[in-house]
Amino acid sequence: MELSTTTLKLFADSSSELEASRWADQLGLGLHLVSDRRRELLAAMAGDAWALWFDQDGLGLQVNEKPLPAPVRADFVAGAIRWRTQPGRGAAGEMVARACGVRRGATPRVLDATAGLGRDAWILASLGSSVQLCERSPIIAALLASGLARARVVIDVADTANRMELMAADAHAVLAELSATPAAKRPEVVYLDPMFPHREKSALVKLDMRVFRQVVGEDNDADGLLALARQVATKRVVVKRPRLAPDLAGVEPHERLLGQSSRFDLYTPAQQSV
Ligand SMILES: C[S@@+](CC[C@H](N)C(=O)[O-])C[C@H]1O[C@@H](n2cnc3c(N)ncnc32)[C@H](O)[C@@H]1O
Repeated sequence: MELSTTTLKLFADSSSELEASRWADQLGLGLHLVSDRRRELLAAMAGDAWALWFDQDGLGLQVNEKPLPAPVRADFVAGAIRWRTQPGRGAAGEMVARACGVRRGATPRVLDATAGLGRDAWILASLGSSVQLCERSPIIAALLASGLARARVVIDVADTANRMELMAADAHAVLAELSATPAAKRPEVVYLDPMFPHREKSALVKLDMRVFRQVVGEDNDADGLLALARQVATKRVVVKRPRLAPDLAGVEPHERLLGQSSRFDLYTPAQQSV
């Protein structure tokens, strides 16, 4: 069964009670305080497979496993994505940046319509692009909002975080609304990275990917995003797929960038494609 905010409990470090209670109100959850995460959390979670966890590092999704793993967070302050996007680390060479045409000095406005934990969007924003992020899962959107709020108060990464604007909404609706606005107000690039059905056994899959599968499922309606995205983007639509997956909506892109396990398909905007 997919997770929803109504089936989750929110636990928090007792020293973070004030902030945690704001999340509890926002998500409509009861708050359970814990004074020692490592010692008390597993017992407090009892039979629940997942829970939300809040402490001074923000909101995370906690799996119930021994030994207790770190919560999965959108972590732009201490996570790997911060180091990958440090100046001089070659973020412009990341495939998502090349596919979207983003590098220092070329910073198109991007709409990341399937934001997830915001890692791809962060790479684009770190290079100077303004990125609007659309995420429809209230749980993932909350993790992302928490990660961005934390990054906005850390000097080294605040500029990047301030270029990112989160919309907790379904991209079908956001794109439909944008398609009726003048071109100057629309994003130049729309980026799509929907979930794709995978076949590996779940024990072998990385924890953050298991979170996505458990929380958001398979995004079976993703085909419908392509035509809408092509009506909105003024320069290009970029779709990330597993390397061997069929084309989104069965539509062949005009260009492909191939990576080891994934590929990026590039589409022209609708008005230029005929
Ligand atoms: C594979 S994850 C994206 C990972 C992301 N690129 C990253 O770097 O962290 C796909 C995400 O898209 C979201 N999503 C799928 N369809 C959506 C839609 N129509 N509107 C908004 N979000 C959507 C899912 O909830 C999920 O969180």
